[in-house]
Amino acid sequence: MNILSLGYVGISTDRLDDWLDYGVNLLGLQQVDRSRRGVAFRMDDRLQRLHVEDDGLEGCRFFGWELPGAEALDHAAAELETQGIKVNRGYPALAAQRRVADLIYFFDPAGNRVELFHEAQVADTPFSPGRAISGFRTGPLGLGHVVLTAERIEDILPFYRDVLGFQLSDYALRPFKAFFLHVNARHHSLAFVETGRKGVHHLMMELMNFDDVGQGYDLATMRSGNIGATLGRHTNDFMTSFYSWTPSKFMVEYGWGGREIDPAAWQPEELVYGPSLWGHDRTWLDDARRAEAREMRLDAARAGRRERVQVLEGNHSVMSGQCAWWDAMKRSG
Ligand SMILES: [Fe+2]
Repeated sequence: MNILSLGYVGISTDRLDDWLDYGVNLLGLQQVDRSRRGVAFRMDDRLQRLHVEDDGLEGCRFFGWELPGAEALDHAAAELETQGIKVNRGYPALAAQRRVADLIYFFDPAGNRVELFHEAQVADTPFSPGRAISGFRTGPLGLGHVVLTAERIEDILPFYRDVLGFQLSDYALRPFKAFFLHVNARHHSLAFVETGRKGVHHLMMELMNFDDVGQGYDLATMRSGNIGATLGRHTNDFMTSFYSWTPSKFMVEYGWGGREIDPAAWQPEELVYGPSLWGHDRTWLDDARRAEAREMRLDAARAGRRERVQVLEGNHSVMSGQCAWWDAMKRSG
């Protein structure tokens, strides 16, 4: 199966007004299509990326993964049915709601609703962010990544790897068990954290500019109890980010500078220094694991672990003066 990227996410809430405030004023999403029951948000040229519905619940309702076209969608449905998975298809009204040409849906072994679609609708007006940010890094990398919690990762991983074709990026066994999977050059579009219960851990959104993240961090720290993990940098995708709590009791990771991988040449490995090079003090961990995570970061620091900054063309300047001797040599011709 040729999944291209994470296309859209559906969210449940019983606090729609709080979502509007959080989505627009903190994340910088563009509000569209407000109704009594729900609100849709844009984050790029597409008509909608997130759909939040007031259904009295908390968490995510569905995850939409993009396929290249109608033929790929038919092929995926047939493949899933061959493997004994009940596939629901043929819902033009639902496709219209999702703002896509067509979709199918089914459930993973943990009961998460997975949707496969093709051809998302594009808006005829430019993206207009809710606050003054430079925009989100999406395109072929998709809207970001989603991290699910699992009772036991072994029970759910084969479904995504063997049936849906996700590829393993890497994994950690301490301070908590986590597996990271990719479908494109984004280091991971999906991951699982073993917490002993199923649910959604976080959604990641990647900003185009580092200061968008820092200014978002300021805004999040002004909201009482809103920080889920402090500013820090990940060992595997090199993202500098912080985590804040959404009104639906999962987190959004708000980041900058994620690396791109070459899926054809990628070799998975164990993350022995834990998930972060520095920072990311996790308020959601119990005291023992939080202390273990801190120790692992100190080990990474003692070992001098560091990674190059990943930048986009046009949002950085190259410095001179890296070596006074060499610069003097160049000047002297
Ligand atoms: Fe993440």
